[in-house]
Amino acid sequence: LTQERYPVQRLPFSTVCEEDLATFEHIIPGRVVTDPEELEASNVDWLRTVRGCSKVLLRPQTSEEVSRILRHCHERNLAVTPQGGNTGMVGASVPVFDEIVLSTALMNQVISFHRVSGALVCQAGCVLEELSQYVQERDFIIPLDLGAKGSCHIGGNVATNAGGLRFLRYGSLRGTVLGLEVVLADGTVLNCLTSLRKDNTGYDLKQLFIGSEGTLGVITAVSILCSPRPKAVNVAFLGCPGFAEVLQTFSTCKGMLGEILSAFEFMDAECMQLVGQHLHLARPVQESPFYILVETSGSSAGHDAEKLDSFLEQVLGSGLVTDGTVATDQRKIQALWALRERITEALSHDGYVYKYDLSLPVERLYDLVIDLRSRLGLRAKHVVGYGHLGDGNLHLNVTAESFSEALLGALEPYVYAWTAEQQGSVSAEHGLGFKKRDVLGYSKPPMAVQLMQQLKALLDPKGILNPYKTLPTRA
Ligand code: FAD
Ligand code: MLT
Ligand code: ZN
Repeated sequence: LTQERYPVQRLPFSTVCEEDLATFEHIIPGRVVTDPEELEASNVDWLRTVRGCSKVLLRPQTSEEVSRILRHCHERNLAVTPQGGNTGMVGASVPVFDEIVLSTALMNQVISFHRVSGALVCQAGCVLEELSQYVQERDFIIPLDLGAKGSCHIGGNVATNAGGLRFLRYGSLRGTVLGLEVVLADGTVLNCLTSLRKDNTGYDLKQLFIGSEGTLGVITAVSILCSPRPKAVNVAFLGCPGFAEVLQTFSTCKGMLGEILSAFEFMDAECMQLVGQHLHLARPVQESPFYILVETSGSSAGHDAEKLDSFLEQVLGSGLVTDGTVATDQRKIQALWALRERITEALSHDGYVYKYDLSLPVERLYDLVIDLRSRLGLRAKHVVGYGHLGDGNLHLNVTAESFSEALLGALEPYVYAWTAEQQGSVSAEHGLGFKKRDVLGYSKPPMAVQLMQQLKALLDPKGILNPYKTLPTRA
């Protein structure tokens, strides 16, 4: 249980009473959930490592409803955890104690789509995959993709500033999110839902909410810039003899495929073993210490295929790559992507997962994995490395039969100190949430943490929005 694993005290918020429930029922009739069985899914995170005990789940449909709910919670000093698809990796999306869960699941309407500019405006609870489908039918793509696409909400993506599989090509949500509508802690609606590409009128307030993990406001609508759908997509899945060769293949790739390169992902042999063992996915190339997934997206199939061919000739000829397979049709492309996208799922079948999401200098990206394998020895079932190599983002995961304090002690703060020594980041894309809030100091100076705390106090003076998350426990 949370409270045993992480010592934390409930802050003096009010407790939901019958009158509160009646008020909520008045604001969102028939959408106040108090049945413990129905609440179970909202109280446990995706990794099943954090559990709260909320007694109320609210399912608003409009920003106005969110505003009225928060106004009431603010007046009554009731704590609230905003929740999207509940796919987050750092325990940010579930209550720690009895916080009210405010779900965006019924806020799933597209508001507008501009066919010339590509600006999509939608409610925060739209599921990423459904949005993706919607814009694809109009010959565009969402600038974000991740393995959780079937469940995560666009509001959750923005609230975590999710990176994912298209970051290399389309960049951060900090660049592609054009506008937001946010309901503040006291119920005030902040309408910054513009679709302008350029807007330098004062401070860019939306940036405060991107990556704020539900601690500064509830995002109710998002305006996001979509890109034209590439006409030709190719995926190459390659086997590599060592990490030095992975790095050289990346350099060669950028040099030869630069303008059409849209993803460069890597996984090690243990990852491949786990997706085989737990998900029965077949290895598409000869067994190798490392595997690379390269995706190209361009406007001319012939031109792209020609470029990819000469790249493959180069890396196979020089021995950087020992085996490879290429896909151009949708089914095979998806099958190759599944090997990489479903590692998270395979790991969760392997036991308790200690999950680290680090930004590191790309040359040193794999050193820590090797180091930990010898440091942990037989105490770990698996120590694996995979991730968004093109973005310098390592996913370091350790599995064991069950959670153990001793193994945690061997991993932390070692992993964080090692990362800080490389001037890396202790959270590249997953955020800090509940699990990592106390390691923020490894990547940010005290002054920055203090300013974050001041911003929180300004926007949420009573601290009702997602308490116990993101910011470190106060001394
Ligand atoms: P939730 O998990 O519900 O919430 C996450 C945080 O956002 C919480 O703090 C919550 O309070 C807050 N929040 C949610 N909605 C709102 C809102 N409307 N307003 C304010 N705050 C809100 N992440 C990556 O970055 N890259 C990846 O490649 C990636 N791949 C993944 C693959 C799998 C299989 C899984 C399970 C997860 C993956 N993730 C990845 C992590 C996760 O999917 C992302 O963090 C995702 O963006 C979370 O969206 P969600 O709707 O599930 O949010
Ligand atoms: C990924 O890239 O697969 C995700 O960030 C999830 C994870 O780290 O397991
Ligand atoms: Zn990732």
